[in-house]
Amino acid sequence: MTEDLKPWFPIRTARLLLREFRDSDFDDVHEYAADPEVARFMDWGPNAREQTLEFMDRKLQEQTRWPREEVSLAIEHLADARVIGSIRLAVSDRDNLAGDFGYSLNSAYWRQGYATEAARALVDVGFKTLGLHRIWAECDVENVGSWGVMENLGMRREGHFRDGKLIKGAWRDRYLYALLQPE
Ligand SMILES: CC(C)(COP(=O)(O)OP(=O)(O)OC[C@H]1O[C@@H](n2cnc3c(N)ncnc32)[C@H](O)[C@@H]1OP(=O)(O)O)[C@@H](O)C(=O)NCCC(=O)NCCS
Repeated sequence: MTEDLKPWFPIRTARLLLREFRDSDFDDVHEYAADPEVARFMDWGPNAREQTLEFMDRKLQEQTRWPREEVSLAIEHLADARVIGSIRLAVSDRDNLAGDFGYSLNSAYWRQGYATEAARALVDVGFKTLGLHRIWAECDVENVGSWGVMENLGMRREGHFRDGKLIKGAWRDRYLYALLQPE
């Protein structure tokens, strides 16, 4: 992100803390990353322990650098005192002030508004702190939960990409959603 910017995290929402990963999060992260339901529409997983270890190593390494264009944060459930997912925000096109985000959540916590709560906080940071003009995200057309989050945030479906991504050996259609700062 911009050189003069201080880290904008951790962020506390009503029920969640969005914060950097810690070594001790491994079991919580592996629980959702190893779940085939969670990985169904993703280009990774379900993870073996080694793959989650690689993910954690990569995140802990990234966290030693600042500024960085892409920030991934653990989603900590405050009442349960555990990590239930992760969310990322990237300044993907700095010249055009555009950013994108993505998220994954432990399936035991689905459909309780947690992804909407976390994503809303990051979209807020994107517009108000990072000065982005446009924030977008993509998902599988069958990933109703994911585009449900985007619609909750008031994002607009701008595109339907045929065979937009090769997921686990099959071409999948993708939706593009976006929101502009003035909106
Ligand atoms: C996508 C994901 C993060 C959504 O998390 P979540 O916390 O369940 O989302 P929310 O509870 O905020 O739900 C958002 C909306 O979608 C709806 N929704 C969520 N899951 C749904 C499902 N499986 N079927 C139908 N609707 C669903 C919710 O009801 C809600 O709408 P509402 O506010 O009108 O009730 C979660 O399903 C997940 O981790 N999936 C696996 C990883 C993944 O696919 N990530 C996204 C990649 S693009």
